[in-house]
Amino acid sequence: MQVLVVYESMYGNTRHAAEAIARGMEGRAATEVVAASEAVGKDTSAYDLIVVGGPTHVHGMSRASTRQGAAEAAHQPDSNLELEPDAESDGVREWLASLDEVSGAAAAFDTRRDVSPTFSGRASKTIAKKLRKAGFTLVADPESFLVDKQTVLEPGEVDRASQWGRALVDGR
Ligand SMILES: Cc1cc2nc3c(=O)[nH]c(=O)nc-3n(C[C@H](O)[C@H](O)[C@H](O)COP(=O)(O)O)c2cc1C
Repeated sequence: MQVLVVYESMYGNTRHAAEAIARGMEGRAATEVVAASEAVGKDTSAYDLIVVGGPTHVHGMSRASTRQGAAEAAHQPDSNLELEPDAESDGVREWLASLDEVSGAAAAFDTRRDVSPTFSGRASKTIAKKLRKAGFTLVADPESFLVDKQTVLEPGEVDRASQWGRALVDGR
């Protein structure tokens, strides 16, 4: 089974979740993990499952303006946030918009603050909606992995991401 995990990440949390999801699939699937900025032009029909994730920004998916806000926050003198090398490149929103006539299985995840989804929003819900609109069939409910006030994944979330990844391939 071939799996493509496409992620966007400003500070690394969503990348860590994406990598953990792929680790959870080890031994069960051949998994490729790529940043959304590098996924443009990839033939999604070559994969049995596409997993897509991004950070929750302003209650939904990131966009150019929120990425800029994230970069500015990291550049503040008192910030200990480290930007991913391609943080300000195009992300999941642009990659999804670039897809043409796709089909097959897909699932969506996000990272977000550890508060009620009513207050945080969930990028994964919009990603899932866009995946479905593009032509994919969703094989799991959108999932969130939570970060703490220091913008670090909460204890146990990396393991939970691996378990979620494993369940995605075990169920197929
Ligand atoms: C500009 C900006 C807006 C954000 N808005 C939200 C939000 O509305 N809800 C939320 O739960 N988290 C929000 N966050 C927090 C991020 O979702 C969270 O830190 C995420 O794990 C970052 O993932 P990354 O490290 O992969 O970039 C926001 C972060 C930034 C930089």
